[in-house]
Amino acid sequence: MIFATKTIENFLSADEITEIEAMINAGMAGFMVDFPESAREELNDKGIDRVANILNLPIYNDTHTRLNEILLPKLQEHFHKDIFIDDCHILESHSPYMVHTDATDDDAENYTIKPANGMIPAWTFIIPLDTYNSNTIIFDQSSSKYKGPEIWVEKTNPPLLNSIDEETYNKYFINIAYPIVLKHFSIEEIFPWKKGSLSAAAREKFHCSDNFLKNGVKQKRAIVMWTTVPKDS
Ligand SMILES: [Fe+2]
Repeated sequence: MIFATKTIENFLSADEITEIEAMINAGMAGFMVDFPESAREELNDKGIDRVANILNLPIYNDTHTRLNEILLPKLQEHFHKDIFIDDCHILESHSPYMVHTDATDDDAENYTIKPANGMIPAWTFIIPLDTYNSNTIIFDQSSSKYKGPEIWVEKTNPPLLNSIDEETYNKYFINIAYPIVLKHFSIEEIFPWKKGSLSAAAREKFHCSDNFLKNGVKQKRAIVMWTTVPKDS
């Protein structure tokens, strides 16, 4: 099954976003801080005390029926009638995520959820809650097995593409990806973070944030969903 990359502008209206913000303000979302041990020293040196806040908002909870009503019918209409939203959270990103996939990796320290029996990973959706001078970059390359680009290059020996020029590198990828690793990647899509737009890409596609800190953006917030669909659909 192909989970095509797609952007839909104005997927959520300003009113719908206001409603979702009210749910967050009412304390309906869980809260956890993403700050892996491995990142602490480097980020503390830059005055950053976390990679991100993750505010969980599971859409099938009895108390979240309005959120379900806002999101699910549109996702069923645009993407798949049997789509299942395994994880829905608000990402408050304080430090850009480097290149990774959102597919399952048993060994990885990550928040990517495992598909239930009979289900397969489908799309990651990102819906920015405001407009920011920042982008998500989605690459053509994908892996169902390796979440990180270095291990993927090491294990699968992909061809050298040299498709990302210096200007593009300087614009998006300084401190985000090693040039030597990016030589194996080509950009499929650059998704600008615009309020209410939706980015859809296969969870197995490699993707990353640009270095928004370099653009003077201190943090950015979005709804992020990891989804599955039935295997034989
Ligand atoms: Fe991701």
